Amino acid sequence: MGLLDGKRCLVTGGAGFIGSHLCDLLLDEGSSVTVIDDLSSGKIENIPSPVNFVEASIFDGEVISEIMDEIDVVFHLAAIASVPLCEEDSDLNKKVNIDASEYLLEICNEKPNVTAFIFASSSAIYGVPQYVPIDESHPIEPMSNYGRAKAYIDSLVSDKLDPGSSRKSEIVSTLPRCSLRLFNVYGPRQDSSSPYSGVVSIFLERLKKNLPITIFGDGKQTRDFVFVSDVARAFLLVGEDLIRNGINSQCHKNSLNVSTGRAVEINGLISEISLQTSSNPMISQSHTREADIEHSLGNYDNLSRITGWTPEVSLEYGLSVLINELNQE
Ligand code: UD1
Repeated sequence: MGLLDGKRCLVTGGAGFIGSHLCDLLLDEGSSVTVIDDLSSGKIENIPSPVNFVEASIFDGEVISEIMDEIDVVFHLAAIASVPLCEEDSDLNKKVNIDASEYLLEICNEKPNVTAFIFASSSAIYGVPQYVPIDESHPIEPMSNYGRAKAYIDSLVSDKLDPGSSRKSEIVSTLPRCSLRLFNVYGPRQDSSSPYSGVVSIFLERLKKNLPITIFGDGKQTRDFVFVSDVARAFLLVGEDLIRNGINSQCHKNSLNVSTGRAVEINGLISEISLQTSSNPMISQSHTREADIEHSLGNYDNLSRITGWTPEVSLEYGLSVLINELNQE
């Protein structure tokens, strides 16, 4: 068993898409897992049964403070993950994605029992790529409230806060910690119900319902699709490295891309889905989505060098898993 065996892990947002896969993996590792989730977007059925589930909001300071006495490792994934919702309701974005995360970091730093903190950051912090593949030195120029919130907490975790920032600095000092910048994550349990859900889940859902697939623009835009179990494993390996090496870990105060280094065109994604489902999806073309990025591709060399992580699930295999699931529903 690995270093997380017997560790008391907290997964914030553990009822959500990525968080619930992380819970599965941690339980396999022998961790005892607590989830805090307000079920605003997560689902109770996503949470595996041996988990200690606390139904509460991440901004409920009292609950957080109470839980934290019994926790060794924190995986912070709770967020308002909808980019448009964060635009519509900037107060909610601030409350959840900024203030609650700040507070969580503060609390973790105060508790000597907490020995590692891993934050789910996003490729959204890079904004329009100035070059690809994007490495972690790429300029941080988020284009949305969501991206700016993620960028701020990411910089707080790595102590690279913009000197001009009016926000707090140096909240955390000795807590071993790391941010993972997730590219386009897809896989089982991803919500497909909103127009802003991930493109893979939307396409498969529409196919299932015999509805046309919409391509925004010419379909030549590319994305770096990373399967959710690979993402969960990245969290686990980084957690282990922080436990093993503490503040001497190369993950500590670092921000690491979680991507595959493979660019897939939206047209190519549709071809692969057609091939695997032996179908010819109806396609409707629409104008390019506002603020849509043309190409996104991540370089994951740093994560790989430090932890040995590489993506194990190809897009072809990941899609076959999802398509099999659809066929069984
Ligand atoms: C992703 C993130 C978003 C983040 C952004 C930062 C997801 C679900 N979203 O958005 O949180 O801010 O990266 O770079 O991971 N598309 C279609 N038809 C559809 C749906 C989408 O053609 O029905 C196209 C989109 O126009 C886009 C591509 O597919 O070009 C991917 O879309 P989406 O899955 O929404 O992800 P991102 O736009 O990359």
